[in-house]
Amino acid sequence: MKLKKFVDALPIPSIIRPKGMYEDKPFYDVRMIETLHKFHRDLPKTKVWGYNGLVPGPTFDVEKNQPIYVRWTNHLPLKHFLPVDKTIHGASHNPEVRTVVHLHGSPSEPASDGHPEAWFTRDFRQTGPHFMKEIYYYTNRERATALWYHDHALGITRLNVYAGLAGLYFIRDEQERSLSLPKGKYEVPLIIQDKTFNPDGSLFYPAQPDNPSPNLPYPSIVPSFLGDTITVNGKVWPFLKVEPRKYRFRLLNASNTRTYQFRLSNLRPFALIGTDGGLLSRPIKVKSLDVSPAERIDIVIDFSGLEGINVILQDGFESENPTGEIMKFQVTKFLSCPDQSRLPSFLGHIDRIPLNKVKKIRRLTLNDSQDEFGRLMLLFDDKEWMDPATETPLLNSVEIWELVNLTPGIHPIHVHLVNFRVLDRYDQNGNLVAPLPADFGLKDTVLVGPGETVRIIMKFQPFSGDYVWHCHRLEHEDHDMMRPLKIIPSNPKRHKSNR
Ligand code: C2O
Ligand code: CU
Repeated sequence: MKLKKFVDALPIPSIIRPKGMYEDKPFYDVRMIETLHKFHRDLPKTKVWGYNGLVPGPTFDVEKNQPIYVRWTNHLPLKHFLPVDKTIHGASHNPEVRTVVHLHGSPSEPASDGHPEAWFTRDFRQTGPHFMKEIYYYTNRERATALWYHDHALGITRLNVYAGLAGLYFIRDEQERSLSLPKGKYEVPLIIQDKTFNPDGSLFYPAQPDNPSPNLPYPSIVPSFLGDTITVNGKVWPFLKVEPRKYRFRLLNASNTRTYQFRLSNLRPFALIGTDGGLLSRPIKVKSLDVSPAERIDIVIDFSGLEGINVILQDGFESENPTGEIMKFQVTKFLSCPDQSRLPSFLGHIDRIPLNKVKKIRRLTLNDSQDEFGRLMLLFDDKEWMDPATETPLLNSVEIWELVNLTPGIHPIHVHLVNFRVLDRYDQNGNLVAPLPADFGLKDTVLVGPGETVRIIMKFQPFSGDYVWHCHRLEHEDHDMMRPLKIIPSNPKRHKSNR
């Protein structure tokens, strides 16, 4: 499908309001439904699955330390509209359409974390072995930042997210407000996803790899998926008219596989001010940023002095291809009032975990393997999802994980419950390599490059229980690049006698 670029205006996802109160806290009701969505002026409407029927889903905008309840319900058809491979983990003896919602980056209690086996079907008729309750509780205790929520059902996460089940979740706080960063219509979310469309407008997702070997199941999972079309906030290659002033963009890579190298066509530097876990301590001036699936970047772009100019947001990894362009900023609006927003040199304080607090160092490999059909399968330490838990940190303990990538691909590694710091990176010869700009912030997902070793440090709190860690390339996550993370109460005996 050849679609004309920059003919649709960038939509801004609506903010969801609570439906009422539950146990004295705001209560939100979100329904997953199948609907039709207009991705492009010249494309017929596309069947999608959306939270409240929206793609992307509605944006949550909540205040720090003000907990909320959310009831996520499944009103989807019983059959998937994308090709379901029944041979992979979680997909064989379970209902075809399963959903569960994970608030990515949030330290949620286990029962509200959206464990992949806490899935539920339409009207909660069937539930997975880890399902505990219908109404999720979010404490919103973390610093101001952009989280996102998305589907996490075992074995079909890649299909459910691609179908449209993803949205943003902002946490605000006083400290952030005191900085006078660009706000209101000058703070713009950008949710970026690559898609491929069939000529009739329907979403294309491969049912098998190209040149499949004859013994492959049909449909069969593929090890990666790159769409040939880029969407932002649910529109194909949109444009945004801007004023000649500073804007703050809250960017989320919600793509299945694709890592982008974001840069501006005028090659002007821009400022990285925040990462997955909130604001950096000070802005970092950059010319490009590598962002892998599930990572969020908080950036300030200054369009002043660019009156009448078009600036394209580009992907430096694809400069020769149509997907090398993402969206267009048209600096055609007049300055409606003087730009009083600031880009302060100090943004916020980030706690450092002292190295002498480290309880355990784990060396964890990212390696290639093969499944029983001879398909490429990516694993951690050569272990599959169903193998017994090996990452079992004690509650409140500090660990260093050395993520050793023995493969030729990029893997964005995500750990539930925690924010971590990136300590350092090494190439395959063990030489220290330069940090990525995002390594200076708090992270929940880290890009591990081909052959690289990345060391991360984190403290496992505030809950014990069953979580997961995984690669956020969704085709990898669904094909066993995911492992249990079991956090053990630090002193179980004493705990009991206290009751
Ligand atoms: Cu964004 Cu375990 O997920
Ligand atoms: Cu991976």
